[in-house]
Amino acid sequence: MPTTDELHTFLQTRRSIRRFQPDPVPQAVIENILHTATFAPSAHNRQPWRFAVVTEPALKTRLGEAVTAQMQEDMQAEGADPTEIKKRTSISLRRINEAPLIITLCRDKTDVRTDTPEETIMGIQSTALAGLQLLLAAHAEGLGGNWVCWALYAQQAIRTVLNLPQTWEPQAFYFLGYPAEIPPQKDRKTIKDITAFCVNAENKP
Ligand SMILES: Cc1cc2nc3c(=O)[nH]c(=O)nc-3n(C[C@H](O)[C@H](O)[C@H](O)COP(=O)(O)O)c2cc1C
Repeated sequence: MPTTDELHTFLQTRRSIRRFQPDPVPQAVIENILHTATFAPSAHNRQPWRFAVVTEPALKTRLGEAVTAQMQEDMQAEGADPTEIKKRTSISLRRINEAPLIITLCRDKTDVRTDTPEETIMGIQSTALAGLQLLLAAHAEGLGGNWVCWALYAQQAIRTVLNLPQTWEPQAFYFLGYPAEIPPQKDRKTIKDITAFCVNAENKP
């Protein structure tokens, strides 16, 4: 069992990895990661998370084309500069094609206790926790990974290409693989700046 210090170091050394070696991720490793992700907490233990795993190069390309077509359409509608659109979409395509493993994290919209805004938020929060757990499990396996939000903007396109049930709502992509580079740690806000250590004001003289 790792020591407390080792566990803190492990948690603090996760990085968003955006460049990968081309080596495939073994199926047993993928399943280990997913299994550990399912130990995330979830509201009412509903476990609304669903995973769509893609490793086939041809499917990655189709996924990339679908996502970037939507990206292009959205950017055009916002009046973005055509050069900027081309640059953004070609970077995104390259990143999708270069990631040896892509996991789309979805929330099953029907897996909620009641259909209220609060329960919907709890479902999204629960699903996101599985996403973090997935990234940490990947880190434990010596993999690097990156949370990518583009999935939110192309939910129907993703469902169509990956043939997912209509109730699966894509929340995020995880691009994963053995790291080709480990970026330096990004600055963190200090505990002092982000925390209120609350006291009972009524007890103050
Ligand atoms: C909800 C969410 C969405 C993110 N979307 C993207 C993204 O679309 N593209 C990307 O490169 N990184 C994305 N990231 C990764 C963040 O940029 C990264 O976590 C942050 O800069 C801190 O760096 P670190 O993960 O290395 O500590 C996202 C992270 C979160 C939590």
